[in-house]
Amino acid sequence: MKIIIIVGSLRKESYNRKVAHFIKERYKDKLEMEILLLNDLPVFNEDIEENPPNPVKEFKEKIKQSEGVLFSTPEYNHSIPGGLKNALDWCSRGDRVLSKKPTFIVGSSSGDIGTARCQSDLRKVLDCPGVAALNLPGNHVLIGNIQDKFDQNGKFNDDTTIKRLDKVLDNYIDWVKKIK
Ligand code: FNR
Repeated sequence: MKIIIIVGSLRKESYNRKVAHFIKERYKDKLEMEILLLNDLPVFNEDIEENPPNPVKEFKEKIKQSEGVLFSTPEYNHSIPGGLKNALDWCSRGDRVLSKKPTFIVGSSSGDIGTARCQSDLRKVLDCPGVAALNLPGNHVLIGNIQDKFDQNGKFNDDTTIKRLDKVLDNYIDWVKKIK
């Protein structure tokens, strides 16, 4: 099963990017995953949506070719980071590449409630007619105090979260097979 992981943070040392790499490595026998970054996407503009710049075309094509999308994203100011919302806006126009795609949200933040507000807003956007992605209720992962969850070598090492990821990922795979 081919899955795209979209990382909601642009910074090089992003914890959400590290968690995406952890997921890609840990579940490599179950899923073929590719990590997509948002760094090269211009801000959405209706004037250019019919023939957007190549980074947008390539980004949308990768999503189109995938069987599902996983988001690994922080929360910015109690909501979705602007870069991720921008990507969703691009995906909501023309060939609506997220339409009916099974999605799965993992969010890491330095706060205690681990992106709960961002995830709530993200699900609202996934549900918009232009986006129309699918999301299995209750099957998400919230990772708070993310800065404390790596060992000295920078390896993600929070056992409770890893157990949760194992369970949620298996649920996701079963669900995708069922709705295929
Ligand atoms: C944050 N951060 C943050 N954390 C949180 O739990 N709730 C929030 O609303 C916000 N808001 C916020 C806004 C902006 C502009 C920044 C830069 C940061 C802190 C955030 O969780 C922390 O910086 C994470 O490490 C960001 O994720 P990455 O970049 O490490 O993946």
